[in-house]
Amino acid sequence: QLSLREQLYEVLATSAQFYQHALRQSQGQKALQYLQSNRQLKEETIQQFGLGYAPAGWETLYRYLVEDKHYPAQILEKAGLIKPRKEGGGYYDVFRDRLMIPIRDVQGRVIAFGGRTLTDEQPKYLNSPETELFSKGKTLFALDQAKGGISQLDQAVVVEGYFDAIALHAAGINNAVASLGTALSLEQVRLVLRYTESKQLVLNFDADKAGTNATERAIGEIAELAYKGEVQLKILNLPNGKDADEFLNTHNPEEYQALAAPIKRLSTLEKFRFRIDELSPSERKELLETAPLWLDWQIKQIIQDRDLKQATDFQQVTQQLVKLLKKIANSDTRNY
Ligand code: UTP
Ligand code: MN
Ligand code: MN
Ligand code: MN
Ligand code: MN
Repeated sequence: QLSLREQLYEVLATSAQFYQHALRQSQGQKALQYLQSNRQLKEETIQQFGLGYAPAGWETLYRYLVEDKHYPAQILEKAGLIKPRKEGGGYYDVFRDRLMIPIRDVQGRVIAFGGRTLTDEQPKYLNSPETELFSKGKTLFALDQAKGGISQLDQAVVVEGYFDAIALHAAGINNAVASLGTALSLEQVRLVLRYTESKQLVLNFDADKAGTNATERAIGEIAELAYKGEVQLKILNLPNGKDADEFLNTHNPEEYQALAAPIKRLSTLEKFRFRIDELSPSERKELLETAPLWLDWQIKQIIQDRDLKQATDFQQVTQQLVKLLKKIANSDTRNY
């Protein structure tokens, strides 16, 4: 007798196989075409991420799993794969006519799906609801694929989207995970930092208004770690409006890696308490080069679009800077 969780894992794994199979049939042709032409993904990457296609009918998965395979409908419902019809009884599939992206836990077990529309239907991505196995705020997409690369490079890159992570892995940048949308939680950060020794995190959200707002919120979320220096956080801004996937369409992986390059660590300086005016020019230079980059980013956010010759602007900037600096636990960083 399998436990509920075991039954859920099984039905999700079988669904992933069903979707993968459908991608290879004539009904999945347009989805496969999309992956190859629009996303320029190789067969190897499609396999690596177990990408699939949910057929267009209202109950294709239901018929296969419940009627053919005799899985209990309640288990599918608890897995977030089907919903009861409002009238007339029976169930319908949650994912229909979508490109299917399995979301896996750290051990690589399928726990949920993201489904992208191939038309301009809304929402663009439909995600599994929260279930016994899946909690959005505790999961990072592709962490199962990335954990080895993260510990090897001693650095993790967090991007916004499924295809940002997939494109980075396809380009050989295998330390990338996706936050599954715009919010990045403290729990997600702690999870990914487990695999790095020096706690280096590169936040690479989309270079648009939504991405900038999400970056601000993420910094707020992980402030308690950042201010204590428990995360070496770097904010990677790509050129205007781009996400990692789009950047890689026109740039080499090496260019991306150079932008995300590991943050230099304080060598001699971090061992000593010091006053900034006691530093030699070369020591000051080192401090400057190793300043926490998220802080620079936040300072820039506060200062930009302000006219410091205007009294009100000046006052507001000063207030915000003081508020920010008060939170910095390390006095060396604060002085700098
Ligand atoms: P984006 O809007 O930046 O989409 O959302 P994207 O990943 O670049 O989409 P493509 O390139 O057009 O395919 C970033 C992430 O936010 C989540 C998804 O995880 C998406 O990858 N999201 C976005 C949703 O869950 N639902 C949505 O409707 C939109
Ligand atoms: Mn975005
Ligand atoms: Mn995007
Ligand atoms: Mn995109
Ligand atoms: Mn691409």
